[in-house]
Amino acid sequence: METKKSSRISQFYKKTLEERLAIIQDWLPSGIDLPIDGGLTQEQANNMIENVIGRYNLPFAVATNFLINGRDYLIPMVIEEPSVVAACSNAAKMFREGGGFTTSSDEPVMIGQIQVLDVPDMAAALQAIEVNKARLLTEADSVGGSIVKRGGGARDIQTRVFENTPIGTMLVIHLLIDTRDAMGANAINTAVEHLAPHIEALTGGRVNLRILSNLTDQRKARAEGMIPASSLARGDFSGADVVRAIVEAGVFAEVDPYRAATHNKGVMNGIDAVVIATGNDWRAVEAGAHAYAARHGGYSSMTRWWQDDDDNLRGAIEIPLSVGIVGGATRVHPMAQLALQILGVQSAQELAEVIAAVGLAQNLAAIRALATEGIQHGHMRMHARQLALAAGASVELVPHIVQQMIDENNIRLERAKELLKERMNK
Ligand code: MEV
Repeated sequence: METKKSSRISQFYKKTLEERLAIIQDWLPSGIDLPIDGGLTQEQANNMIENVIGRYNLPFAVATNFLINGRDYLIPMVIEEPSVVAACSNAAKMFREGGGFTTSSDEPVMIGQIQVLDVPDMAAALQAIEVNKARLLTEADSVGGSIVKRGGGARDIQTRVFENTPIGTMLVIHLLIDTRDAMGANAINTAVEHLAPHIEALTGGRVNLRILSNLTDQRKARAEGMIPASSLARGDFSGADVVRAIVEAGVFAEVDPYRAATHNKGVMNGIDAVVIATGNDWRAVEAGAHAYAARHGGYSSMTRWWQDDDDNLRGAIEIPLSVGIVGGATRVHPMAQLALQILGVQSAQELAEVIAAVGLAQNLAAIRALATEGIQHGHMRMHARQLALAAGASVELVPHIVQQMIDENNIRLERAKELLKERMNK
């Protein structure tokens, strides 16, 4: 669904739930009517996993302001942590001031691994695989089902030899399959299990494991964007100060794994929230993202930040993202379907690119705050808001009570109750 609507929605967070739903409704194709009571039915849950005793809800929100390759997106996010969605929207606004994100991605190629042991003659085994590659690829496609029908299928076979391991010399075969709009775990696992006897026959070895790799480095998404220095000025900090401090924060994460872990956790705050909202496997995405961040031998940052020739800030991310828009929970979960409708993405690659942009935005939000006023500032405001609501304040009164608690540096439930009482008695 191509849309001309702008995701630059001012003060979305201040609107009532009903007002927000009315805005989102406009982004949906006709026939989908909000609100959708998003839960899985008891029966759906029971059919998804084993030993079900109930269901578990999380907040479903929408981040605003995303402009990606010239197109506006609203971003569905499922997350329990306060501040993430607001911070993400705010960062997207800053990128928007620099023209938005530019993204790209690899073809959706997954890797399946076959572990081969006790190979009697490694050179002959490698030769046999090379000579029979086309036949093996056709064999893999014979169990490819709908993925092959949609234009995907086996693309290549690669071999890797590990000498002198504790279990002797080991041959590892990689089967590369383009899984199109599916995440592809089932397709890959089916194909490597199917190929295993053929590999044993060709190599004379013994196959042990046959399973996909979550280091999906053939299936990466990239996002990049610029933020004008002027958009970063805040309080006592000039734009140039903030650009420098953010570049310094980025280098900290590039060189120090202790910082990289936290920096990348912030990136994944954004990425996971969209991956979960769209019904995708966030453990798979986490595993791939962190393994890729360690690809040079040491664990490092998932993002890069630098000052460009015009003294503005630039950031970029490249990350493996194995996500789908068909199959699995994306099909079953009503809220995953809604999330995909809100996004309006047409392919798994487009979804991966949007997710990469969200990761970069989330990272900017975190390191901008850390490099200036500190992270607690925003958190305390959110905390104060929650206390004001818990004290019973109406939506109109909340901002006043929040501001007063912040000004007094006295953010407690008791104080929220006192302030509410004072206002009610006025
Ligand atoms: C908190 O969930 C995420 C941060 O710690 C990320 C970071 O430090 O960059 C704020």
